[in-house]
Amino acid sequence: VDQTYIMVKPDGVQRGLVGEIISRFEKKGFKLTGLKLFQCSKELAEEHYKDLKQKPFFPKLIDYITSGPVVCMAWEGVGVVPSARKLIGATDPLQAEPGTIRGDLAVQTGRNIVHGSDSPENGKREVALWFKEGELCDWTPIQAPWLRE
Ligand code: GTP
Ligand code: MG
Repeated sequence: VDQTYIMVKPDGVQRGLVGEIISRFEKKGFKLTGLKLFQCSKELAEEHYKDLKQKPFFPKLIDYITSGPVVCMAWEGVGVVPSARKLIGATDPLQAEPGTIRGDLAVQTGRNIVHGSDSPENGKREVALWFKEGELCDWTPIQAPWLRE
């Protein structure tokens, strides 16, 4: 089954939006399998965003992501990767639709409060990068039969 790596970035933590952001995914009906507050190293941030290494904003992006604790989450479910991206909204919060996390709660690309994996392959890669095996839980939510026929 698909998994995605969702992260509340340091601005989301500082602004007190952790509960609100977790709640969006929880209410939608995905399964939380990993959750922690974490101060990430420069090395981990660089590995996570390695595809953006050539971008002019890369050094600023690494400073931003390492500027304070983040909340790391692993979520599971059929179709969770594209669905989570839709819940999050466009990279630029001013372009993000109202109703999305960025559309409702942020105003600038460089402070867009949340990350979501962009493909199932990256979902797997990022969950494995940010969590040790013992930090993930497999469990059976009791609401399962009320979410899918
Ligand atoms: P993530 O979920 O964080 O990966 O965002 P995304 O997939 O919507 O965008 P992308 O992967 O292209 O960029 C990763 C992150 O880099 C963005 O979420 C922003 O925080 C940051 N970023 C992207 N483009 C810019 C930019 O032009 N300027 C600045 N300052 N930051 C940018
Ligand atoms: Mg991305």
